[in-house]
Amino acid sequence: MPPSLFSPLKIGPYELKHRVVMAPLTRMRAEPGTLAPRALNAEYYAQRATAGGLIIAEASPVLPTGFGNPNVPGIYSEAQIAGWRRVVDAVHAKGGIIFLQLWHVGRVSHSSFQPGGALPVAPSAIAIGDDFKAMTADGKAVAYEIPRALATDEIPGIVAAYKQAARNAKAAGFDGVEIHGANGYLIEQFLQSRSNQRTDAYGGSIVNRARFLIEVTQAAIDVYGADRVGVRLSPYGIANGSGEPDPMPLYTHVVEALNPLGLAYLHLLEPRSSGAGRADVNWQNVPSAMELFRPIWNGVLIAAGGFVGDTANAAIAEGHADAVAFGRYFISNPDLPRRLAHGFPLTPYHRPTFYGGEAKGYTDYPVHDEMAEA
Ligand SMILES: Cc1cc2nc3c(=O)[nH]c(=O)nc-3n(C[C@H](O)[C@H](O)[C@H](O)COP(=O)(O)O)c2cc1C
Repeated sequence: MPPSLFSPLKIGPYELKHRVVMAPLTRMRAEPGTLAPRALNAEYYAQRATAGGLIIAEASPVLPTGFGNPNVPGIYSEAQIAGWRRVVDAVHAKGGIIFLQLWHVGRVSHSSFQPGGALPVAPSAIAIGDDFKAMTADGKAVAYEIPRALATDEIPGIVAAYKQAARNAKAAGFDGVEIHGANGYLIEQFLQSRSNQRTDAYGGSIVNRARFLIEVTQAAIDVYGADRVGVRLSPYGIANGSGEPDPMPLYTHVVEALNPLGLAYLHLLEPRSSGAGRADVNWQNVPSAMELFRPIWNGVLIAAGGFVGDTANAAIAEGHADAVAFGRYFISNPDLPRRLAHGFPLTPYHRPTFYGGEAKGYTDYPVHDEMAEA
C-alpha cells in the first residue's frame, strides 16, 4: 500500500500520526498595541489541533520593522512570548505539534507600519510594481514606496533578530520554527534578482543571493537544532511582486545548499496558489514545484497550495510529497483531518473574514456533525 494522508510520518524528532498539516495563515487578530496572541487565538489553534498533527503557526515578525499588516502577532517581546505560550499550551494539551513561522516582510510594507515612519527596508531600493498595492496602517491601498536598501553592516543584526526570535519561540514552547522564505517577503527579496541588485556578498551571484536565507536558517538551527527547523519556499510564485525570471538554477542551488543542513522539512508552495489570499490564480501549464524539486531534496517534503483530499493523497502516494499543508480549508474546517479521513464534506471558506476581526470567520466555523447528516 502506498502511503496516504493518514500514514504516520516522522518529522525531525516528532512522530506525526497523519500528514494533514495546517499551513501558516496570517489572520490579523493579535492584541492591538502589544501585538501579542490573545485567548481568542489560543482557542482558534486549539480547535485545529489533533493528536500527532502538525500546525505551522502564522507568520510572525522577528522585528518591529518586519510588519506590513495590522494586528499581526510578533515574536520579539515578553508579552508576545507570553501570548504565544498560551497558544502552544492549548495545542500541546490536545497532543498537537506546533511550529512558528518566522517573518520579515522587507519591502512588502509601508512607512506607516515602520518605527518612526521610516521607509521599509529591503535588499535594494526597488519598489514593488504598480500591479500590487501597499496597505497603510489605517487601511488605505496606496502605491508601494521605494524601500531603503540595507547596508551590509545592518544584515548581521537582522540575522541576529531571527536567532533571538527562535530563542523566543523556544521560550514560548514551540516544537520548532519555519523560516518564511516564500511569497515575496524579505528572504525571497534577497533570493530573487528582480528585488536584489546588491553588489556586496549578499547580491549578484546565486550563491550570494542565497546567503541571507542560509545565514537565517543557520541561526535558527543554532537555537533549535536542524531537525526542528523547516524552510518554506515558493520557487514559481508571483506573490507581492516576486518572481525569478529563471527559477530552476536559483532554487536548485538553494535546495542543494539546504540539503546538508539536515532540516526537519522543506515546505514548497505550488505556483498556482502564489497569490495567497487574493483571488484564486488558475494558470495553465505551470510547473509543479514538488515534482521539480522532490528529486533534488533529500529530506521530508511538505507541499502546499490548492490541494483537496484526493489530490493530496495522490501527491503522497506518487511520492511527490511526504505531507500536504492546507490553508484555506483549514480556516473553514477546524476538524479538517477528520473530514478528510472520513470523506465528510468541507465547509466553504469566507474570504472577507480571512484578515482581521474577531470570532466571526475565525473560531465560529463548525465541526462536522455526523448525526445531523444521518
Ligand atoms: C488568509 C491567508 C493567510 C496566509 N498567511 C500566510 C502566512 O502567514 N505565511 C505563509 O507562508 N503563507 C500564508 N498564506 C499561504 C498559505 O499558507 C497557503 O500556502 C495558501 O493558502 C495555499 O494553500 P491552500 O490552497 O490550501 O489555501 C496565507 C494564505 C491565506 C489564504
